[in-house]
Amino acid sequence: MFCETFRRLKVSKLSKNCEFGIIKMSNAHIQFSERKSDVDFEQLRELFKIAAFWASERSTEDLSIAVANSEPVITVKDGERLIGFARATSDGIYRATIWDVVIHPDYRSQGLGSKLVETVLSHPKVNRVERTYLMTTHRQGFYEKIGFERNSTTTMVIYNQSHFNSLQSSVQFHEVLGG
Ligand SMILES: CC(C)(COP(=O)(O)OP(=O)(O)OC[C@H]1O[C@@H](n2cnc3c(N)ncnc32)[C@H](O)[C@@H]1OP(=O)(O)O)[C@@H](O)C(=O)NCCC(=O)NCCS
Repeated sequence: MFCETFRRLKVSKLSKNCEFGIIKMSNAHIQFSERKSDVDFEQLRELFKIAAFWASERSTEDLSIAVANSEPVITVKDGERLIGFARATSDGIYRATIWDVVIHPDYRSQGLGSKLVETVLSHPKVNRVERTYLMTTHRQGFYEKIGFERNSTTTMVIYNQSHFNSLQSSVQFHEVLGG
């Protein structure tokens, strides 16, 4: 659980309550959690459909695999309602990457997005790594306010290619997908 100063939260709308990541908003009860068991996959699918153009078609089955293989996984809830989500993958020491940062449109511009990213960055799986990356198409300004820099090195990508599945490998793989 995380309990830090919510320095970026606008005090007019949010007040600090340092009990296990609980934030009180005027008419809301916002809670940050790192427990994967707190992820409601149907609500997550809906949140992505509304607010994450790159993830709007994801199925609950595939999301559960992504969550099982990510750490940390941070949820933001208003009561029982899922209103924010972010996750990272990390080797714990050299490199980490943050993925799928989303705040529900009804809850934006109140500091929750920054708090969400800062919560990922402060997690033990991420806070010691040399470099933490993320990919963004048009939110550079948001991330720069948190401390990210634009990165001029070339990023390369390979999309899933089914012929790799049938390649003879010199290593015998054991498939553990999670979910
Ligand atoms: C990006 C997102 C998570 C931000 O959530 P949020 O709760 O509104 O963020 P915050 O309230 O913490 O905003 C922090 C600051 O960034 C600013 N900001 C937000 N988007 C920005 C942008 N594109 N360019 C510059 N500044 C931006 C806000 O104005 C705010 O500034 P302030 O603190 O000086 O007022 C939210 O807009 C979202 O879910 N967007 C859709 C999904 C998305 O694009 N995710 C990022 C994918 S990589």
